[in-house]
Amino acid sequence: MRPIRVALLGFGTVGSSVYEIIQSHQQKLKQLTGRNIEVAGILVKDEQKRRDVADQVVITSDYQQILNIPDLDVIIEAIVGVEPGYTCLTEAIEKGLHVITANKEMLAHKGNELRDAARRHNVSLKCEASVGGGIPLIGTLTQLLQVNTMTKIEAILNGTSNYILTDILTNQTGFEQSLKAAQELGYAEADPANDVDGYDAFYKLMVLSDLLFKKQPAWNQVAVKGIRETGLKEILAADQAGLKIKHLALLETSDGGAWTSVEPVALTDSHPLYSVDGVDNAVNLNGDLVGEVKLQGPGAGAYPTASAILEDLIQIYQHKEDNIQNDAVEFKSRDKQRAEQWFVLSQQSSLAGKNVSSNWKFEGDIDGWYGYQLSATEEQIEVLKETYPETKAYRLAGLPTQSATPALVSI
Ligand SMILES: NC(=O)c1ccc[n+]([C@@H]2O[C@H](COP(=O)([O-])OP(=O)(O)OC[C@H]3O[C@@H](n4cnc5c(N)ncnc54)[C@H](OP(=O)(O)O)[C@@H]3O)[C@@H](O)[C@H]2O)c1
Repeated sequence: MRPIRVALLGFGTVGSSVYEIIQSHQQKLKQLTGRNIEVAGILVKDEQKRRDVADQVVITSDYQQILNIPDLDVIIEAIVGVEPGYTCLTEAIEKGLHVITANKEMLAHKGNELRDAARRHNVSLKCEASVGGGIPLIGTLTQLLQVNTMTKIEAILNGTSNYILTDILTNQTGFEQSLKAAQELGYAEADPANDVDGYDAFYKLMVLSDLLFKKQPAWNQVAVKGIRETGLKEILAADQAGLKIKHLALLETSDGGAWTSVEPVALTDSHPLYSVDGVDNAVNLNGDLVGEVKLQGPGAGAYPTASAILEDLIQIYQHKEDNIQNDAVEFKSRDKQRAEQWFVLSQQSSLAGKNVSSNWKFEGDIDGWYGYQLSATEEQIEVLKETYPETKAYRLAGLPTQSATPALVSI
């Protein structure tokens, strides 16, 4: 079987972990998709940096070289900022490639454009890692809670801010000291502005708004406040009143509109997010049918984020397999022996991880042709055509019948 060929855009914390897990979990991934996963190319900014990858992997700062890799199937984007991610993913989609991204800033700005393009080109756009890191949030909202109307989402979406708020209370320190501790532990970037000023959580909330409501509120109407002004004094005063300050992203619908805000809020101990401490993220969902659901877990970090990306990859291929209706296809040859050989092979072979079912065979020749019909997916047909290039394959216009002259469409 041809492997699933992947290119990584970005090889930092996230990209390099995706590469590592693809190597270490090859067998599991094969069990799930029926195919090996192969990283064929990596886009970086600095080509001179040493990367610990196999020799055959193309490492380049020129995106066209990535797009020119033969038989590429999927692009995984883990770069920071709107560009070059947006342009790269647009070009990939236009080329018919599936795309997966962890980049919430790019999605907040350009998610709907990318979704439209993916729809037009009939490819998948997946983004589980972009909000809540390793928490299975987007899949839960978009696949498992589809019948529900979401009335309210309250979330702690920035692990750095949550760590700092927790640390200030636990160790009775100030904002600057706790930020330094977060940086030393690798929980905060050297430039922490996006995290502590609230923009990271804001971008994530906009991604959720797109997914749930197919639109976003006007950005200048959303109150966005970070935690820089939330010091020991405020946190202790809240504590004495039995409250805990959390950096909360809120999306609440009412009368056809939506309330959105991203700011520090004092929560009572009965609030579901009161107990979410440290670097964890958590999301409290309210659906009209399901009621209240709380999801909590690691909102960032190399492995949780890479985990979400690989779950997306598996979903693309499992989903494809499950939803493609098998086509009835006829393979014909003027060489009787050859036709019989194919028939036996098609029964023995396992294509794309699934057995092809050959359901009817020409016993005699029709107009000088010998052949058989089988039920196969598009992908399986491609494999058969690759394996036996001299085969003439035809898709039957209807389901296979015992009719001697089914309608044939050349493929
Ligand atoms: N880190 C997390 O825990 C986490 C969690 C969820 C989502 N995310 C998202 O995932 C994305 C990647 O995050 P990260 O932490 O992995 O970032 P990172 O460690 O800073 O890595 C960024 C990578 O992108 C490459 N890059 C930067 N500009 C580029 C350009 N113009 N062309 C080509 N490559 C370029 C860099 O190349 P060089 O190696 O040559 O510098 C680097 O390999 C971001 O959008 C982030 O928001 C991250």
